[in-house]
Amino acid sequence: MSEKRIVVAIDGPAGAGKSTVARRVADRLGFVYINSGAMYRAVALWALRNGTNLNDMHRLEVLARTAKIEFGVGDGSVHLNGEDVTEALQTAEVSMAASQVSAVPGVRRALIPLQRGIAESSSVVMEGRDIGSVVFPDAKIKVYLDANPGERARRRTLELQGRGESADVEAVTASLRERDERDRTRREAPLLQAPDAQLIDTTGLSLDEVEDKVLQLVRLRTSNGKEVSR
Ligand code: DC
Repeated sequence: MSEKRIVVAIDGPAGAGKSTVARRVADRLGFVYINSGAMYRAVALWALRNGTNLNDMHRLEVLARTAKIEFGVGDGSVHLNGEDVTEALQTAEVSMAASQVSAVPGVRRALIPLQRGIAESSSVVMEGRDIGSVVFPDAKIKVYLDANPGERARRRTLELQGRGESADVEAVTASLRERDERDRTRREAPLLQAPDAQLIDTTGLSLDEVEDKVLQLVRLRTSNGKEVSR
């Protein structure tokens, strides 16, 4: 039996639970976990550090093309130009800048081939905003995770506070709303549910429940995470 590489595409707005669920599903299947948002965040971090104007599309594209972005094997770490920036990528400032940077077409043109390249050598669970719609339109398994805005803001606030950042739910709600609005309405690859993506509303569901739903879908569309040869 020939085994082909499989892509599990997980898209959705911030705070829907994508990262945690995608990582757990990848662990269970033995697939590589890729957080595509971390790539946009890495470019944003570099831009913020060197004072790049976030309206300078050309400069941002150059940064995206020259950034060396690497994922640690199995530990969820992200490296930018050789430095471990995993923690630095998670600040509220970088979140907002990443949303701006990701709206630049040249930045997307630079990063998407890298995302596709990773799936050439391994089966992946990749999460983002346009994974099922643009990066892997032929992915066998597409999931769109959502949750109501109040729940997403609550989760994100707890996450930021857990990291020692000062965050209150009102400020986080406003910032999520702004990011969602930009991510959904930008011209290039806006956040949307691909027609063939399975919607999972995670409001009120436990992580175990969401993970089970995704794994069920994988089982339904493959043979236990392995492509059936035809
Ligand atoms: O998933 P995240 O919050 O880490 O993503 C950070 C930003 O990057 C988000 O506001 C939108 C953008 N992004 C994107 O445009 N396309 C992706 N595939 C992933 C993230």
